Amino acid sequence: MVAAPVRRTALVTGASAGLGVEFARQLAAQGRDLVLVARRAEKLESVAKALREEHGVRVETFAADLSLPDAPEAIADYTRGAGLAIDYLINNAGSAG
Ligand SMILES: NC(=O)c1ccc[n+]([C@@H]2O[C@H](COP(=O)([O-])OP(=O)(O)OC[C@H]3O[C@@H](n4cnc5c(N)ncnc54)[C@H](OP(=O)(O)O)[C@@H]3O)[C@@H](O)[C@H]2O)c1
Repeated sequence: MVAAPVRRTALVTGASAGLGVEFARQLAAQGRDLVLVARRAEKLESVAKALREEHGVRVETFAADLSLPDAPEAIADYTRGAGLAIDYLINNAGSAG
């Protein structure tokens, strides 16, 4: 019997635009499942839809403003509730400006 490959999950913040989308795309291309976080839910879902279709990985989204003190706990609650263990954190959110 051949063991199924272990699937790893990466959480990418700032994944609605810019470098975060590229990090997410490259991780999806490597077969990683993803949790995408940023403030704009519609942008996140659009990125998620494209990555699911292109790479067949699981992609969940969670809209959060990381400048708010409750955001990390809300994200942790969400991932726990979704049964997701986070193997990698790409903490990219922010502004280049
Ligand atoms: N581009 C560069 O040349 C460069 C150079 C050095 C360092 N960096 C760093 O690389 C990171 C990404 O840069 P980028 O050029 O890709 O920027 P970007 O195109 O402006 O994208 C920033 C991302 O961060 C999210 N974000 C911003 N504030 C947030 C908040 N309070 N809570 C949650 N998400 C937030 C944005 O999504 P929402 O608006 O949907 O929340 C977006 O997805 C930044 O940390 C930046 O400082 C970039």
